[in-house]
Amino acid sequence: MFKPSSFVRCLALGAALVPLSSTAQECKATNAAYEISQDEANQLYNCLAERLAALPENVTGIPGVPDYRDWEVVSTAPLPSATHGSMLVNHIVSPEAAALYKQWEQMSGKKFPPGAILAKESLMIDSDGNTSPGPLFLMEKTAAGTAPDTDDWIYSRIFTDGRIQRTLGPGSANLDFCHDCHAATIDQFDAMFFPPERYRIETSQD
Ligand code: HEC
Repeated sequence: MFKPSSFVRCLALGAALVPLSSTAQECKATNAAYEISQDEANQLYNCLAERLAALPENVTGIPGVPDYRDWEVVSTAPLPSATHGSMLVNHIVSPEAAALYKQWEQMSGKKFPPGAILAKESLMIDSDGNTSPGPLFLMEKTAAGTAPDTDDWIYSRIFTDGRIQRTLGPGSANLDFCHDCHAATIDQFDAMFFPPERYRIETSQD
């Protein structure tokens, strides 16, 4: 009998064994990003996992990279993110950020310590259902006074070709829009938006 789960395992195994060009063919979405189920989003993520993990290999000097690959994933599946280019994203938290982030809206008024980092991997789905790794997004809390215009948050966007944009670093102005939006929650949630509730892992708060 055909079992979807073993089919997925086959795809994952195939991804490890075949060249990238044919891997890309296999990681095909059957729904648009907005209609995708959590199961399908997770299958696509697993299918692209190796290529996503390869993304930061040439990136040096950015705190949290490549360490984020060992951190806790706090979303139950990659979720459609209208604010980050209509892609699927998953939310990942550094050990310094985890306890407070997982309080979700209950964190009200508290601040993350310097060194706390939030990461989001992204996957893109084109109109034909073809998928590919997208940029990596990072927010890093720095010591008071380090980045006064962005409430001491340093934003980074790392593209699949290795290009880096970073607050106070290369292409900083291209990231002004990040904090323009994230600042909306600065007082209550220290610039966090959190995944929608149905995409949050269970925590002791729930
Ligand atoms: C128009 C508003 C908007 C803009 C612009 C924006 N974000 Fe976000 N961001 C969100 C929302 C909403 C979430 C939570 C849901 C999601 O992931 O889509 C989020 C989540 C995040 C998170 C996870 C932490 C959290 O808030 O829960 C990171 C990291 C992040 N964004 C980085 C960035 C970076 C880097 C940029 C700029 C390249 C950026 N964002 C631009 C709205 C925005």
